[in-house]
Amino acid sequence: MIVIAGARGMLGHDLVAMYGSEARGVYHDEMEITSPASVARVLQELRPRVVINSVAYTDVDGCETDQDRAFQVNGEGVLNLARVTAEIGAKLVQISTDYVFDGSKGTPWLEDDPVNPLSVYGRSKLAGEEHARLNPDHLIIRTQWLYGLHGKNFVETMLRLGQEKDQIGVVHDQIGSPTWTADLALAIRALVDHDCRGTYHAANAGSCSWCDFATAIFAEAGLKTVVNPITTGELGRPAPRPLYSVLDCGKLERDSGFVPQGWRDALKQYLKARRQ
Ligand SMILES: NC(=O)c1ccc[n+]([C@@H]2O[C@H](COP(=O)([O-])OP(=O)(O)OC[C@H]3O[C@@H](n4cnc5c(N)ncnc54)[C@H](OP(=O)(O)O)[C@@H]3O)[C@@H](O)[C@H]2O)c1
Repeated sequence: MIVIAGARGMLGHDLVAMYGSEARGVYHDEMEITSPASVARVLQELRPRVVINSVAYTDVDGCETDQDRAFQVNGEGVLNLARVTAEIGAKLVQISTDYVFDGSKGTPWLEDDPVNPLSVYGRSKLAGEEHARLNPDHLIIRTQWLYGLHGKNFVETMLRLGQEKDQIGVVHDQIGSPTWTADLALAIRALVDHDCRGTYHAANAGSCSWCDFATAIFAEAGLKTVVNPITTGELGRPAPRPLYSVLDCGKLERDSGFVPQGWRDALKQYLKARRQ
């Protein structure tokens, strides 16, 4: 059996839906990831062969002010999972982020490129990666720019603003790959099915700026809102973000055979899915 921790989250929800009866979703009120006793109790009772950890404190700006919570959930929480999964002989699948990189490379990031997180969120997720490696049967999957049917995300924010405003300013100097959580769930399953270990990157194919992404969302949704490019500095968010964080997903394709679809096709499918 596969346990999905963080089952109520945006990715967790899609993982539970994809796996169906093969998996058991575990919710926050059932398992407190920061408590070693809670993690041990739940996993020793369920005895899964795989634990997919989709739990995180994902408020990137909030992490700057609540560093303790960031490191407790994104770091110590993974340590608790790594210890218990190693004890019971289960694989630990840890979901991580492009924010472990500093964005300075200019070409897609490879799994063994040097990490240098710019933010508290990025540092806490990197601590999580290091803890996950304590279980020899670990699979770390870095992803980025997620949106899905069951969580707050950029697409939903743009669709709401598109109803309210004639024009908006959107950042044009951060480049990444928008990724639909339903596609990420398929990539995760392919890696698990091929018993892959170590670190992988998984995202929808191609890349764009947030500004390009917003323009595509409005075009696909038939909204006339004008998108004005602004800089990261002008937006002035508390947490620094990497400017170029496109992930090279060649290793995912080679080792699992899974070929992610392009981000624009994924966006079209997502918009269709949310209308159903
Ligand atoms: N969103 C992105 O753009 C993005 C980009 C790159 C990587 N990622 C990574 O992808 C993964 C999934 O992200 P997501 O956006 O789907 O996350 P999400 O929607 O914020 O869901 C996170 C889940 O973690 C649970 N949780 C938080 N603290 C917990 C704790 N102390 N103990 C147990 N459960 C706890 C939350 O439950 P409650 O709400 O009930 O507290 C929630 O269900 C995360 O590892 C994230 O770091 C996300």
